[in-house]
Amino acid sequence: MELIDGKAIAESLLQELEAEVKNHVTQGMPIPTIAFIRVGEDPASITYVRKKESIAARLGFKSRLKTFPEDVTEAALFACIDDLNKDTSVHGILIQAPLPNHLSEQKTFNRVSPKKDVDGFSSSNLGKLCQEDPHSFVACTPAGIVELLKQSNVTTAGKHIVILGRSLIVGKPAALIFMGKGSLGNATVTVCHSQTKDLASITQQADILIAAVGKPHLVTESMVKKGAIVIDVGMNRIEDSSTKRGYRLTGDVDFDRVAPRCSKITPAPGGVGPMTVAMLMKNTWKAYQLQTSS
Ligand code: GUN
Repeated sequence: MELIDGKAIAESLLQELEAEVKNHVTQGMPIPTIAFIRVGEDPASITYVRKKESIAARLGFKSRLKTFPEDVTEAALFACIDDLNKDTSVHGILIQAPLPNHLSEQKTFNRVSPKKDVDGFSSSNLGKLCQEDPHSFVACTPAGIVELLKQSNVTTAGKHIVILGRSLIVGKPAALIFMGKGSLGNATVTVCHSQTKDLASITQQADILIAAVGKPHLVTESMVKKGAIVIDVGMNRIEDSSTKRGYRLTGDVDFDRVAPRCSKITPAPGGVGPMTVAMLMKNTWKAYQLQTSS
């Protein structure tokens, strides 16, 4: 069994990007800038946005953080997005999900200018992904999974990829990528969700199993074919009074039991998570280059 070390792979991508960005900025060019919007005080969202801000700073990007109370109106949130869309010194906009229930994520993501949509969640960028248009911004978690597989010399053509979860953030864009004709495409893709019957009979067929449902240890060893590649996107907080924080993070996969059956597996945390942040930075750099080259 080989551990796919997302932390190390992300670090090498960031080092490459850091050198490229710093070389560019020292030539007196404008500084790439990403704006983060966070609504409410969800502790996980606070942590994720802080992490993204700190990696952006490390690369030499500027970042702006706009925070709103849980009960912010759609009008106030959209006014902020509109201002950021118009501001030519801002190149990327990220609205941290999940949003409170009274706000439509779909409408909110669509409010972001497609050229600043570094999350790739707008209908414009998702539509382009569906059309296999290389000029789209691809959602960061699926893009990170693709990069992890590439760097681990995994090919996908002809393989059966089973994705657990149909979210806009992971499952749907991942399915589009793997069923497409790109370098990590040409797979047969099955997407499972909460209404799927006899889940184990499907996951047992997977050459590559991607778990992105947010249910701790949902994937057990009896659900995994021997020699499969398992990618764990889960990042679940479970209570643990023995830790200082009172919780620990765990994936959707029962790692200790599943790992011995796999040919390759990502740890969680330390697998997909760092890649998501690295791909966000790559998308921000791409957005900057597209906006400053004309
Ligand atoms: N919440 C969980 N993952 C993501 C992500 O990739 N982008 C945003 N904006 N919110 C998230």
